[in-house]
Amino acid sequence: MSTPSKLALVTGASRGLGLAIAEALSERGFHLILSARDQGTLDRVVARLPNSTSVACDIRDPESVARLAAVVRKSKRLDVLINNAGIAGPVQPVESLDYEIWREVVETNLHGTFLVTQALLPLLGEGSVIVNNVSVAARTAFPGMSAYNSSKRGLLAFTETLREELRPRGIRVVALLPGATDTGIWKQFWPDAPRERMMSPKTIAEVVVGAVTLPASTNVDELVVTPSAGSL
Ligand SMILES: NC(=O)c1ccc[n+]([C@@H]2O[C@H](COP(=O)([O-])OP(=O)(O)OC[C@H]3O[C@@H](n4cnc5c(N)ncnc54)[C@H](OP(=O)(O)O)[C@@H]3O)[C@@H](O)[C@H]2O)c1
Repeated sequence: MSTPSKLALVTGASRGLGLAIAEALSERGFHLILSARDQGTLDRVVARLPNSTSVACDIRDPESVARLAAVVRKSKRLDVLINNAGIAGPVQPVESLDYEIWREVVETNLHGTFLVTQALLPLLGEGSVIVNNVSVAARTAFPGMSAYNSSKRGLLAFTETLREELRPRGIRVVALLPGATDTGIWKQFWPDAPRERMMSPKTIAEVVVGAVTLPASTNVDELVVTPSAGSL
């Protein structure tokens, strides 16, 4: 069923899960604002998705996020916010983890999601939905991934707090917790990971679109989606 003229913003929409979610929303008739840092890649996505536009934005940078919000504000209202942009960083045990890497991961996954959410909240109203792409890493510790694990557990706590703050306003907040999904993020920490055991980004995207198109009277708090054969 198409949902004409609803507007969704997807961060990290240039590839991987964000791109798959953008494509699935587009198939359901959503209008899209797509964001990531690399404008060239966004241009190529916008060229093939109808009713889409893009804004390059580094979600770690408050000024960059403010410029993104200024563009979205022209539309007066946002129906769906997909906070998807994120990074993993390399595998390094705590004792040798570079502080710069720790900071980059936490600033992107946790601080960046906060900045985007806060900047766009004035445009979200009753019936709107926020989906934060967390990860099973919010609950399961992976040695060598302390920054990622910490950022995602923090993001889950942020998501749960946000849900309770926005419940009285009729804004739904969904925590998405995917397991291993076949995207480029694995190159950052496990280049030879067995891709054949991973889920497809399209599968996750279908679950997300199913949740955001539910009647406004129905809330899904968490979407935990994992390969049925078990985790890697
Ligand atoms: N793949 C998995 O197995 C898996 C499982 C659970 C959760 N997740 C989560 O899913 C989300 C998407 O990951 P993915 O697997 O699709 O990774 P990906 O293919 O590497 O895509 C990451 C996206 O985020 C954007 N991005 C990265 N840093 C950014 C920044 N500072 N500001 C704005 N955009 C930024 C990237 O574009 P630019 O580089 O152009 O900015 C890209 O569009 C992440 O939050 C990740 O933690 C993934």
